[in-house]
Amino acid sequence: MDAERAHGLALCMMKSRFASRFLSGTRGHDTQTDETESRLRVSLWGKVFPNPLGLAAGFDKNAEAITPILSMGFGFTEVGTVTPRAQKGNPRPRIFRDPANHAVINRMGFPNKGLRDFQENLTRFLEQKPRANGLVGLNIGMNKDSEQPARDYAILVRALAPMADYLTVNISSPNTPGLRNFQEPENFKALIGKILDVLHKVCPNHPPPLLVKLAPDLSIAEQEGLARIALEMKLDGLILTNTTLDRPRYLDPEFSLEKGGLSGQPLTSKSNDVIRNFYQMTGGAIPIIGAGGIETADQAYDKIRNGASLVQLYTGLIYQGPSIARDIISGLSQRLERDGLTSIQDAIGAAAK
Ligand code: FNR
Repeated sequence: MDAERAHGLALCMMKSRFASRFLSGTRGHDTQTDETESRLRVSLWGKVFPNPLGLAAGFDKNAEAITPILSMGFGFTEVGTVTPRAQKGNPRPRIFRDPANHAVINRMGFPNKGLRDFQENLTRFLEQKPRANGLVGLNIGMNKDSEQPARDYAILVRALAPMADYLTVNISSPNTPGLRNFQEPENFKALIGKILDVLHKVCPNHPPPLLVKLAPDLSIAEQEGLARIALEMKLDGLILTNTTLDRPRYLDPEFSLEKGGLSGQPLTSKSNDVIRNFYQMTGGAIPIIGAGGIETADQAYDKIRNGASLVQLYTGLIYQGPSIARDIISGLSQRLERDGLTSIQDAIGAAAK
């Protein structure tokens, strides 16, 4: 089946009542006791994440499926990327799979229903009583035809900051022309400085943590520059990483020719390197959410040991299906037991010191 059609169907099924009952009922091999549950909790930014595994941005672009996603066992989900105005994204097809390598290339270009729908869906979730256990990050981006990107981000921050467990500024999608230029030091400082001003005006007392999501294709010098600026600006966190423009030689040749960002297994070690670099360059002072090619508990644990406080996946869900969250969570618990650790937080950066 066409990859985007499969995605649409999956989302549709998850939203149906039947599926939510099924997803929260898939606890057959869920052997979590109170003790293992508390060991996986992560306290960060004054909040408690029930476990360190999240669903990465791009799956639930319009914040329509938060409850079913959290019911799958994820400790948090990042919804978006949302842009101020609705937009269609690039022409289809725009998602491609290389099943032999558990890889995906996408050039979606932020198709989404825009801020108003996003805010309505999010409000509906936040007003639910009782609400699914887990936190919700909001990932924001500029419209493709925007002439004032900083204004787009300001509009989104003003509307969404009060509703966010954390906010992610996405400046690393390869599919919106010019977006990655905000990773250049002067552009970065100007944009993030403006966003921080707006954020502190909207939420003077308790602003949500502000994170920036970066590409894996930065040189070491660029990473050093950004690590320094992140420390100077006292950024709350970094998401490392988005998709890559790399095309390793072993990929299916036809697949490899598609334009867009590559995710999944071919990204695993590259994103690990970036996580470890930033962890070391910042002396562990800036929390990192690690993403890129997580499909197993060992891969999630590796990212944490390389310096990630939390981790996320997307492509792994495409290849492993909805049981992936509970499988990784119970696997992480077993790794802690094996290594004699009482909290997942004790593993953060253990392989990067
Ligand atoms: C993404 N990703 C993404 N990231 C983002 O910040 N905003 C977005 O809208 C999207 N959209 C998107 C669509 C599709 C189809 C894919 C596969 C990915 C990137 C994603 O959140 C993640 O950073 C990377 O995919 C790396 O993780 P995985 O997929 O290797 O686990």
